[in-house]
Amino acid sequence: MAIFGRKLRMRAIITSFRLFQGHPLQMNNTDLVFQSYGRCCRKDEFFVDFYDFFMSSSDAIRNRFVDTDMAAQRHLLRNGVMQIILVARGMSDRKLRDLGESHNRSNYNIKPEWYDLWEQSLLKTVRAHDPEWTPELQQAWREVLKPGIDLIRGAY
Ligand code: HEM
Repeated sequence: MAIFGRKLRMRAIITSFRLFQGHPLQMNNTDLVFQSYGRCCRKDEFFVDFYDFFMSSSDAIRNRFVDTDMAAQRHLLRNGVMQIILVARGMSDRKLRDLGESHNRSNYNIKPEWYDLWEQSLLKTVRAHDPEWTPELQQAWREVLKPGIDLIRGAY
């Protein structure tokens, strides 16, 4: 017990030292990505650039948006990405299931292979916009996006 108590005290000292240094304690991937997305969303150009990257990744994708009001679409996507992050943080996936339904073969008919281009375009846009980008942050983004993308793509 005495040893256990000493270990705990030592951990408390290390913890307060880290706090004193101003380092955030053990931020998990969803915290890192949530904050990164906050930095990205400060400028509307984030979503303009995302759709530029995404549409230039394939003619088939560009064709899907010829009749789309892109200003409205950018706002919808802002919310869609937030939904993916919130679901990774434990929120209900009801809205993502609705997106799975709207994107499936009976509705927009979004081919499963296009989601890789979607993800690559998003990662590229984060890299271009987040001043705190690192390779580790990119890996955190990948891990946080995966369940949401899998859910929407899986509803095909
Ligand atoms: C996980 C990835 C994706 C997310 C989070 C997402 C999010 C959204 C959202 C929020 C909307 C508006 C709401 C709705 O209509 O249901 C939407 C519409 C749409 N999305 Fe996606 N989307 C994703 C992947 C894709 C991909 C890969 C394509 C391929 C081209 C695509 C094409 C479209 C189209 C064509 C619309 C309708 C545009 C219109 O109203 O004219 N989406 N998406």
